[in-house]
Amino acid sequence: MVNYKEKIARILNEAVEGMEREDLQNLIEIPADNKMGDYAFPCFKLAKVLRKAPPMIAKDIAEKIGGDPIFAKVEPVNAYVNMFLARDVYVKDTVGEIIDKGDSYGRSDMGEGKTVIVEYSSPNIAKPFHIGHIRSTVIGNSIYKIYDFLGYDTVRINHLGDYGTQFGKMICAYRRWGNKEDVMKEPIKTLLSYYTKFHVEAEKDPSLDQEARDIFTRLEKGEPEEVELWQWFRDESLKEFNRVYAMLGIEFDSYAGESFYSDKMPRIVQELKDKGLLEESQGAQIVNLEEYGLSPALITKSDGSTLYITRDIAAAVYRKEHYDFYKNLYVVASQQNLHFQQWIKIVELLGYDWAKDCVHIPFGLVSLEDGTMSTREGRVVFLEDVLNRAVEQTRDIIREKNVNTDNIDETAKMVGIGAVIFQELSNNRIKDYVFSWDKVLNFEGETGPYVQYTHARAASVLRKAGEEAVKKAQTGEFDASYISSDNAYELVKLLYAFPEVIAEAGVKYEPSIVTRHIVDIAQAFNRFYHDEHVLVDNEDEKTAKLALVIAAKDTIKNGLGLLGIKAPEKM
Ligand code: ARG
Repeated sequence: MVNYKEKIARILNEAVEGMEREDLQNLIEIPADNKMGDYAFPCFKLAKVLRKAPPMIAKDIAEKIGGDPIFAKVEPVNAYVNMFLARDVYVKDTVGEIIDKGDSYGRSDMGEGKTVIVEYSSPNIAKPFHIGHIRSTVIGNSIYKIYDFLGYDTVRINHLGDYGTQFGKMICAYRRWGNKEDVMKEPIKTLLSYYTKFHVEAEKDPSLDQEARDIFTRLEKGEPEEVELWQWFRDESLKEFNRVYAMLGIEFDSYAGESFYSDKMPRIVQELKDKGLLEESQGAQIVNLEEYGLSPALITKSDGSTLYITRDIAAAVYRKEHYDFYKNLYVVASQQNLHFQQWIKIVELLGYDWAKDCVHIPFGLVSLEDGTMSTREGRVVFLEDVLNRAVEQTRDIIREKNVNTDNIDETAKMVGIGAVIFQELSNNRIKDYVFSWDKVLNFEGETGPYVQYTHARAASVLRKAGEEAVKKAQTGEFDASYISSDNAYELVKLLYAFPEVIAEAGVKYEPSIVTRHIVDIAQAFNRFYHDEHVLVDNEDEKTAKLALVIAAKDTIKNGLGLLGIKAPEKM
């Protein structure tokens, strides 16, 4: 793709003295208001170097570069040089290239040879995968896809919460009140009910807590009876999680969860001791982080058992040694900010300079219109139920609207699940938000169904045009003057920006940048489609417009793909 900023910087560099090409390029802006041009160059810095008034320089530059064929018009306005591109060339280049690249439009090789670990989802075994977990799963999956598209080697890790004292409680409860058949039938709901019961009963009989602690100690020692039950809980839970992942189209390269590090912790504790970081406090071992404005981190309890944070330190060290990551990303709720600050600091204090490459990517809370969620009290919303409900409601809407589809069930799945994912990725991830059914499934708002519908509409135009006409447009031989109207041009500009948008989303770990951009593309496409006939009698005009439809469709599809959403051909 022609890099227009670079091209313009070259032209400026020829025209003026006193500044390097790169510095010139960094100053070039894209005006928010397109009446100020496609690109603008502010002359303040140059004015300082040349000791002249900025408007004079602007005027001078405009005169010098105005004749270049890439511009339709160059205007000095106060201290700015406003540049309008010659649309035909730009449109032809851009649309031609998108058509040529198709599925891989927006891909890059900037990450070549670098490994990025994306850790996401990480639910707790035998606890429900609730709506709060959707966020980690969906945001993490999108960040993984973005990094993959940018050419990085990626490793997707599900750091399962499959270890810790709660398993003592679960085993204790199962032994007292449990039933094998019930667990097999509905593992998570059943195990959760035991867990809930344990807390109710332990209120009345505090000796249960000690019993549970003893069981966990046996588990940590590898006693076969406890290990077997734990393993069984884990397997059954994972079956249920995998069903949800399959619905979402999500996969992992590794399920190395907390238990994976149980034999890797003694070394870490020893290392902390050797480097003088451990302090004793009431029988427990802690790292004092007061100097850094953080509360102390508990590394081992007085009975010697390790904690969540100990496992995270061990996991990071293991990952560095095993994967030699360039970045190690953690998509985890912002409630755990302190936890991540603490352990990343400890890794730094251990002397590992790669601590800076461990990045916590926090996100805000999601609540439901009808109240919050808490695992303790068992008041939870099950993700699977949410997804099923989305699919069912979408099926009703599809019937009502007489949506064009060959397979209602398949389309309802794509759209219903896509809608939930899209909503998750619409806001800045750090913002708290309220999950609203009306908003999610609205076909007219800035929603998943709207963008998918736009894609299907483009597909439908291509079907109507017929194979031969589409083939002709796909050769890239078209007269761009037919797609240089304001509507078409605004659309092409958004398509042109797509690769930069992906790169920005990657740097900021912010999929919503992609989400918003494809909403913009869908809206621009619909304006174009609404105002101009595509399937006109004039063959040349039709070919050019079909080329633009193909380019828009490909870009929307690639964008949805980066969010983890399917693009239906019909709906
Ligand atoms: N299992 C934890 C939870 O559900 C999240 C784990 C986050 N990842 C980590 N490396 N600490 O709260």
